[in-house]
Amino acid sequence: MAVLEIVATAFWAMVPAYVPNNAAVLFGGGPPIDGGRTWGDSRLLGDGKTWRGTIAGWGVGMLFALVLNQLTGPAGDALGVSLPTFSMPALIALPLGAMLGDIGASFLKRRSGRERGAPFPGLDQLDFVVGALALAFVADPGWFTDTFILPVVAVVLVLTPVLHVTTNGIAYALGLKDEPW
Ligand code: CTP
Ligand code: MG
Repeated sequence: MAVLEIVATAFWAMVPAYVPNNAAVLFGGGPPIDGGRTWGDSRLLGDGKTWRGTIAGWGVGMLFALVLNQLTGPAGDALGVSLPTFSMPALIALPLGAMLGDIGASFLKRRSGRERGAPFPGLDQLDFVVGALALAFVADPGWFTDTFILPVVAVVLVLTPVLHVTTNGIAYALGLKDEPW
């Protein structure tokens, strides 16, 4: 695979895992998933993880995957590379896994005494990647191993923190997010 194809594949295949966080920021709010429950001195997850944000993030992620599946041909032709299409299990699992990874990270943050919104460098940037890739692997191992070959995974691990820091900085500057991480 040529370098352009590796980078394009990494970005393309991860879009359904990238957009859920941003959709959750836009549409989040309402009842928290943990219902206010605590474990020890801290909330189980906190007010930053809501049903509405989670469902919206999952749904918008799936919507993006459906749209990308319609554009694979023309976008691939324009770039001169072959881009992946999302299988139905992958299309469902990538955004759901991203949301679950983010929720898992909040659970760990609360257990380590970090309040809602407190940064956890590394975890904040990669929680949703690990969740998305893990669930996609479980949902469709064949699709996963065809798409996420080792160099693609390597690019994802480098590209994601850069994109995440950039988009969160923009969301903060626009007043959509309370903290720039
Ligand atoms: N959000 C949501 N539901 C989710 C994830 C996010 O409603 N499953 C919304 C919340 O309004 C949240 C915002 O998106 O405040 C930003 O998300 P995030 O940074 O993940 O949450 P934090 O508020 O920073 O909380 P935490 O410390 O638990 O990450
Ligand atoms: Mg946060």
